[in-house]
Amino acid sequence: MRDIPIELLDILRAAQSVAVLTGAGISSESGVPTFRDAQTGLWARYSAEELATPEAFAQNPELVWNWYAWRRSLVAGAQPNPGHAALASMATHFARFDLVTQNVDSLHQRAGSRDVIELHGNISRIKCSRGCGAVTDFAADETPPPCRQCGAYLRPDVVWFGEMLPSQALAAAIQAARQCDAFFSIGTSALVYPAAELPLMALDAGATVIEVNPAATPLSARASFVLQGAAGIVLPALLDALLA
Ligand code: OAD
Repeated sequence: MRDIPIELLDILRAAQSVAVLTGAGISSESGVPTFRDAQTGLWARYSAEELATPEAFAQNPELVWNWYAWRRSLVAGAQPNPGHAALASMATHFARFDLVTQNVDSLHQRAGSRDVIELHGNISRIKCSRGCGAVTDFAADETPPPCRQCGAYLRPDVVWFGEMLPSQALAAAIQAARQCDAFFSIGTSALVYPAAELPLMALDAGATVIEVNPAATPLSARASFVLQGAAGIVLPALLDALLA
């Protein structure tokens, strides 16, 4: 990674309000595979996009349940990495700091970030697939277990392709994007909407947009700064440079 540009440090030192959008890339250094990486092992025959849909769950609930159970066990064994930790520290240096994530793994919270805006739910929760509102625990042998209230299958409390995002979280994320001075897009392929719209909203509102990613994305050409590299390296370096 190149040094952090001085112009960017000047902008950040003057910024009152910073918003951040993270994606699966920030958790990859914790050992949680991203969505668009090829899957390995048991799951090599499937793409994540094929499994994370209401149609896949309707057609083969056991397959989808087991895939999420596998991801849940990966997440449970994972530790937040220096990228997560740097964001938790950065929050304390700005008058306002909004952290919006597409991740469902709680690693930001476990690194100490507060009030994380979760756009795509959380893998540690489950809910009734019929929407009866019951909340249940995981103590069941069936895959997937039935809802104790209405008997429909339980499912992970995450957003699948084609489903609406939780409206409060989306509204909070849009507000953060529209009012910030600087917006970071970190570890996301910037392909999945509406999350991918957030940096564009920030740009339209006049914010400086910074992308952190080892690979180019559709956002790269429009971002004000592209910090090419792994979040676990770039973000601690940025924090050090800011505090120097
Ligand atoms: P993707 O898997 O689409 O993209 C991960 C991004 O992280 C890629 O652009 C990688 O280049 C980048 N990356 C990999 N390692 C990195 C690292 N160490 N540091 C920084 N970046 C790194 O994941 P998302 O963009 O999060 O939604 O995917 C968006 C949504 O699509 C997910 O929330 C999920 C998925 O399907 C739903 O399930 C609704």
